[in-house]
Amino acid sequence: MKKLMLLLPLFALIWACADANDKKSTKPAKKEKKVAAVDKPDGKKIFKINCVLCHGADGKLGVNGSKDLTAATISRDEAITQVTKGKGLMAAYEAILSKEEIEAVVDYAISLRK
Ligand code: HEC
Repeated sequence: MKKLMLLLPLFALIWACADANDKKSTKPAKKEKKVAAVDKPDGKKIFKINCVLCHGADGKLGVNGSKDLTAATISRDEAITQVTKGKGLMAAYEAILSKEEIEAVVDYAISLRK
């Protein structure tokens, strides 16, 4: 009986894997879409992972003296430099994010204004 209890989840796992493989082979179009999404960084996603902690989902949180991003007046270039090199308590992101990712996340941060 104990052996059966151990085997049951294993069968379920194998069945689930087989099922996943089936789906992959029948829908190649979906896979292509995913690859395309990786090429263009998702600024909103990057913001959620890296910036929400201090700036908040709406950019207004202001933790640790971080500025309200919706009230920011700095230019896109200045914002890119600040995110790349860091300022005050804000870390430099050049080691964490690629240039394209920084541009995408800055564009998203700017979209929070107004
Ligand atoms: C550790 C907390 C923290 C995190 C995480 C953080 N910031 Fe900041 N941010 C700050 C602080 C503090 C300032 C104000 C710096 C100063 O002027 O001294 C700031 C300022 C800014 C400014 C300038 C605003 C202005 O009006 O001058 C921008 C743009 C900005 N952050 C974008 C981002 C983006 C994009 C991310 C994610 C990649 C991010 N921040 C992550 C703390 C943080």
